[in-house]
Amino acid sequence: MSAASFTPRPEDKFSFGLWTVGWQGTDVFGPASRDLLDPVEATYKLAELGAAAVTFHDDDLLPDDATRDATLDRFKKALADTGLVVEMVTTNTFSDPVFKEGAITANNREVRRYALAKVLRNIDLAAELGAKTFVMWGGREGAEHGASKNVPAAMDRFRDALNLACGYVRDKGYDMRFALEPKPNEPRGDILLPTIGHAIALISELDHPEMVGLNPEVGHEEMAGLNFAHGISQALWHDKLFHIDLNGQHGPRFDQDLRFGAGNLRGAFWTVDAMLGAGTSKRYDGYVHFDYKPPRAEAMDGVWESARACMRNYLILRDKVQAFRADPEVQSALEAAGVPELEQPTVAPGESLDDVRNASYDLPALRARSVAMEALDQLAMEHLLGVR
Ligand code: GCO
Ligand code: MN
Ligand code: MN
Repeated sequence: MSAASFTPRPEDKFSFGLWTVGWQGTDVFGPASRDLLDPVEATYKLAELGAAAVTFHDDDLLPDDATRDATLDRFKKALADTGLVVEMVTTNTFSDPVFKEGAITANNREVRRYALAKVLRNIDLAAELGAKTFVMWGGREGAEHGASKNVPAAMDRFRDALNLACGYVRDKGYDMRFALEPKPNEPRGDILLPTIGHAIALISELDHPEMVGLNPEVGHEEMAGLNFAHGISQALWHDKLFHIDLNGQHGPRFDQDLRFGAGNLRGAFWTVDAMLGAGTSKRYDGYVHFDYKPPRAEAMDGVWESARACMRNYLILRDKVQAFRADPEVQSALEAAGVPELEQPTVAPGESLDDVRNASYDLPALRARSVAMEALDQLAMEHLLGVR
């Protein structure tokens, strides 16, 4: 495959948060290192680089009411000029110090009501712009102190807020689904719904569970030492992978938000494999969305290079994964590792538990059997390293 063939096309459905390339580099140790990027200019530039869609928090695009209408007009013109769509919208319920102790699960009821109002206003905007996915990342929902948060009550309020938001979308007749974004910590010491599994469990308690799924982020699961590919595979199994935030992370540490492919590269390979269905029937067919932060050290040239690299790395990895899955030696290695056998039910239809109990098991042979998994994994490694 030549280097030129890793050029993004609209059918690749690449999407970027306007806050990604727009991140000015402000961190806990220093102020912005880059000038403010006009989100409308960013939209044109992302289209030029090959993206198909953009996403944003209300405040990224429309920071105040005085400029709201004029900016929206300019933004809509940029969408019309470029053919880009808004596929997802999310609400900033974490920057304003009003949300310092939470938003929809803040102890303070006024804050919760204000947060809900901000979300509802943004749902209307999302519908106006044609977005079909509405992400909810509860960055400030959490705690630093044991007794400060009644977690069961917070779950009640989370559930209520989601039920109210779903009810609102249904009343309005909007074609929109919600996607919860788990994260274990940062900015709070401990964030509620810290992992994919916690979020899936809450969804099963809702009035309309079919309207709510997940927006898992690579770095957020890896910050907790978890396997992202396994997490999204389970989300797919539950039909809950509504959206995705691709980026890179070097193991358990602060949320690095590296460009996709940086950090845990083998994890990225298996992430793309899982998105493509990993040889099974369920695959992710939504937008391939990047949520990363161009490193603070970079100037604008580095910002655009990192955006280009996110898409390029996805395309390169997709190519590698497809070659891995199509390789006849890999197919034999999968057989040798017994992978297809896991699809057979443990107790076959028509069999009884007595058949299982009364069967004889050759334990010495089972203990000594080959699992041939190193050979399979080495084939993946060699595809990834480009020697196959
Ligand atoms: C993070 C989060 C955020 C959210 C985004 C959506 O890096 O901690 O990913 O970027 O995805 O704010 O609300
Ligand atoms: Mn992140
Ligand atoms: Mn994210």
